[in-house]
Amino acid sequence: MNLLLVLLVATLSPNQGYHGNSLMALSPDGKMLAVACTDAGTVCGISLPAMEQVWETHIGKRPESVTFVGNQSLVAVTLYDEDALVLLNSQSGIQSGRLALPDEPYGVVSNSAGTRLYISHDYPGLVTEIDPSGMRLLRTMKGGARNRGIALAADEKALYVSEFHTGRLVAIDLGSGSVTDTWTGHSTDNLARHVLLHPRRPKAYLSHVRSRIKIIDGGGSIFPQLTIHDLVPPRSNKRSRSFGMDTYNGVYVVTNPWEADISPDGKRLYTLYAGTDDMNVSDVLDDDYKEIQLVGGAVRVGHNPRAVRVAADSKSVFVFDFMDFQVRRLDAATMRVTGTAKVSKPTKSDAWIRGKVLFSTARTPMSGRLWVACASCHPDGQPDGRIWHNPEGMRKTPSLSGLAHTHPLHFSADRDESQDFEFTIRSRLMQGSGLLPGRLPAKEPFKPTELEVTTSGKSADLDALALYTNSFTFTLSPHIEGPGKLSKEAERGKILFNDDKVGCATCHSGPYYSDSSLQKPFKLHDVGTGKDDPSEKIGPTYDTPTLLGVYKTAPYLHHGKAATLMDVLTTANKDNLHGRTRHLGSRELNDLVAFMKSLPYEQPPLKTPNTVSFVEPVR
Ligand code: HEC
Ligand code: HEC
Repeated sequence: MNLLLVLLVATLSPNQGYHGNSLMALSPDGKMLAVACTDAGTVCGISLPAMEQVWETHIGKRPESVTFVGNQSLVAVTLYDEDALVLLNSQSGIQSGRLALPDEPYGVVSNSAGTRLYISHDYPGLVTEIDPSGMRLLRTMKGGARNRGIALAADEKALYVSEFHTGRLVAIDLGSGSVTDTWTGHSTDNLARHVLLHPRRPKAYLSHVRSRIKIIDGGGSIFPQLTIHDLVPPRSNKRSRSFGMDTYNGVYVVTNPWEADISPDGKRLYTLYAGTDDMNVSDVLDDDYKEIQLVGGAVRVGHNPRAVRVAADSKSVFVFDFMDFQVRRLDAATMRVTGTAKVSKPTKSDAWIRGKVLFSTARTPMSGRLWVACASCHPDGQPDGRIWHNPEGMRKTPSLSGLAHTHPLHFSADRDESQDFEFTIRSRLMQGSGLLPGRLPAKEPFKPTELEVTTSGKSADLDALALYTNSFTFTLSPHIEGPGKLSKEAERGKILFNDDKVGCATCHSGPYYSDSSLQKPFKLHDVGTGKDDPSEKIGPTYDTPTLLGVYKTAPYLHHGKAATLMDVLTTANKDNLHGRTRHLGSRELNDLVAFMKSLPYEQPPLKTPNTVSFVEPVR
């Protein structure tokens, strides 16, 4: 290395931003590890090399990313559910600041001087720039849609942001604040929550899955991928390569890539798999062709690993075993464990924790071939943005929020217990041996066999899975003026919604905006949407979905054929069967949409007459 390069590397090395967003961050001096515990709502400080927890601070709901602020003794954390950024002293853990942010802040990275923080926002897709010393929001930039991954270029002149539902990578020039380039992967790319840059070469690495919506089969629906994009010109001839990590380990399959990290010397890449609880170690090749070469076999780690960070000297690797509430340190040369440290456990029941482990894993007995987990399509209970071509017809993956109160399940109400997803575990999709003892009655094609069997109360594990599946709640809509306070348009829309001449509230009734009820016969409705999909086998009547949170769950209807809420009321309601909307003018339609986008504007009750018994006790 010549002197200039040495100087350059030395001055650039404090910029941790190229590693991208993560639940775990290493201090620039290598003496501290900060870990964000999403389900506990805390951040922990772990001293190194001792691997001892020295502080733990409760900060609020759903921390999703943490970074050290330059080389200052500060850490910054995003709170996804509370729309805030929190600053803590990295030595004491004492909270020193809190800033309200736009909706759903996910990833956060810092510049090397610690004078700027950059944050990706999932919905509606923004990137914000923060001055941490003044705790001020300096700039709001438009990134892609559903920004999650975020990384800062080594020269600190550009940000790279990944879209969660498409894997698309967007470059934002920090001079102009605008998008200057995009890299679009394959149309099936999905769940890209992290992006990493090579410390010296112009390459971006994205860990994500591919969701093949036309194949409902354990070995063919969900694929683990690593996509590598070249970031430099020639822009007209963009080069990207995507590696199927399913065959990377020979016959052994890895599932649900979560994030990756690269050693600061740029030589080793660590890719983490949250569905199979393991990690690949690869040599990074400087060949612009093969790119990576496997070193050894997949390294087994703890349950549902969600973060991997490499020490500054490249000699140790830290993995956050998310569902074991533990960080492990591995020796990079041997991959032996050299220390562990406990982090916060959420104040949840053991059953909830077990349920989340089962929901997140692609191992037996959930899946027979390691390919698919419930979380592959329902990441943390959120939708994957996909319309699956199920045997019974096209079905969009719904949000699982509010599920405990909106039984029966599925658009066709063919399940009445969350435990009935035992049928999914044992289906061709997952091919698991299942959680219930013994055999299940054979599922008759397109018949609601599930309604004839009782699946609850027969297996502690299956009940735990149901309890977790029933536990997702809502955050208030960002489209309101404050808790309980609607805009003028939304107020007018609310009147229309409840107007008998329009009729929405006859079916979208009660605090969950659904007349779903476990009282038989189930109330299914033909709202004229059943004939738009020639592959439909069991329509045209469907269970009324909740409208809470619809502002962010496009596309709409069971088959996803309505791209917007306006389409639901207009182009998808030609027969005027889905409420009466034909007589409404454009201002009234806009008001109705404004009202729907405001839901929920207050927290719905935790108990209704239709709430099931497998719910997490309130603490
Ligand atoms: C391949 C993607 C995929 C996988 C894997 C998957 N689901 Fe789903 N899930 C869907 C789709 C699509 C629907 C909508 C189907 C329908 O309504 O007919 C759905 C519906 C549901 C619902 C009903 C929601 C409601 O509001 O009615 C629940 C509960 C659910 N899934 C839980 C699970 C569980 C538990 C697992 C693992 C055992 C699982 N899913 C695996 C895609 C998936
Ligand atoms: C007769 C009962 C009924 C009435 C009246 C009704 N809905 Fe619905 N709504 C449903 C059903 C059933 C579905 C699911 C249809 C499907 O997926 O094909 C649905 C779906 C929706 C969806 C899509 C939700 C999603 O997540 O995909 C929206 C939005 C919606 N309704 C809004 C309204 C509005 C606004 C009105 C009044 C103009 C209204 N509905 C009137 C029963 C009704």
